[in-house]
Amino acid sequence: MKALVLAGGTGSRLRPFSHTTPKQLVPVANKPVLFHGLESLRAAGITDIGLIVNASGTAIRTAVGDGSAFGVEVTYIPQDEPRGLAHCVMIARDFLADDDFVMYLGDNVFAEGIAGPVAQFQTERPAAQLVLVKIADPSEYGVAELDSSGRIVGLQEKPARPRSDLAVTGAYLFSPQIHDAVRRIRPSRRNELEITDAVQWLVEQGRDVRAHICTGYWKDSGNVTDLLDCNRALLEKLTPGVRGTVDPLTQIGASVVIEAGATVTASRIDGPAIIGSGTAVKNSYIGPYTAIGSGCLVEDAGVEDSIMLDRSSIRGVRSVKGSLIGREADVRQGRQEVRVHHLVVGDDSLVEVPA
Ligand code: TTP
Repeated sequence: MKALVLAGGTGSRLRPFSHTTPKQLVPVANKPVLFHGLESLRAAGITDIGLIVNASGTAIRTAVGDGSAFGVEVTYIPQDEPRGLAHCVMIARDFLADDDFVMYLGDNVFAEGIAGPVAQFQTERPAAQLVLVKIADPSEYGVAELDSSGRIVGLQEKPARPRSDLAVTGAYLFSPQIHDAVRRIRPSRRNELEITDAVQWLVEQGRDVRAHICTGYWKDSGNVTDLLDCNRALLEKLTPGVRGTVDPLTQIGASVVIEAGATVTASRIDGPAIIGSGTAVKNSYIGPYTAIGSGCLVEDAGVEDSIMLDRSSIRGVRSVKGSLIGREADVRQGRQEVRVHHLVVGDDSLVEVPA
């Protein structure tokens, strides 16, 4: 069985970060979201991976290389424009040949991995199998309707009135029958070849399309709110360990990772949290669900439920929460005498200040 991992796309919902970094490389729990996906595939026994990237795809090629660091073999498949998930299947035809495969969206997080759905597919061998999660209001998702035997009998895309509470996630298991289906569909209103239309075509042809209901944590990390949610879920899974330097004035709570080369002085850290290598935390409070990358500085500050990317700094600001701080960004107390906000904010950024 092969995998087709989708790491192209526009990433418009994750601007400004996606202006400079493919969204699949934004770290959650200090590791690019795509790396978590590649590790999940490897853990499910899949090592032959086709990776869809944008036309240049340089950043992803540099980060992932030939895949050997993940124990997998990666074949790059460039996509000229984001023409839809079914288009990705079309351009991967040579790579996929007539093998079964998992199509995995490179910005998705399955905290418990995907070995369960892969094993079910290999046992049952349907034409296709979707991985579904129960969501109280799935109207923002693709929604699957099942019959009494658990077979999928219909799909709706972002329906105003969902026919079930089962949302379609970003892991799809396909037999080679999908190649026929992706050629039968037309571009949607947003001018993309939709994989839901291709799966719906299989359903209408009476093919065996089944569901795997995922009970573990799943999220698409495509916007900042959901990315912070993924960060929380994956921080919970880290094995705690203090490998950096911590002074006697510092208090470290449970579930804290301090990577080698980090230094923490006169601070308090409440986990789950991770502090990256080369980062200095001084006279500060780091609260639960915080991931601080490499080479950062946190001084006289308080940060919780946030992600700081590499080489960013927060100094003299005590109440940073629910924030995503970009690489080399500097958040600090101003030197102005009057209480003004002095902002140098990049395109598509968001700044919220207290009312
Ligand atoms: P989406 O998140 O649906 O699309 P997007 O990347 O364009 O994001 P946004 O809506 O914020 O603009 O894509 C899901 C995954 O599939 C993501 O990893 C990008 C990838 N993808 C491709 O590789 N090619 C495509 O044509 C599309 C639409 C998505």
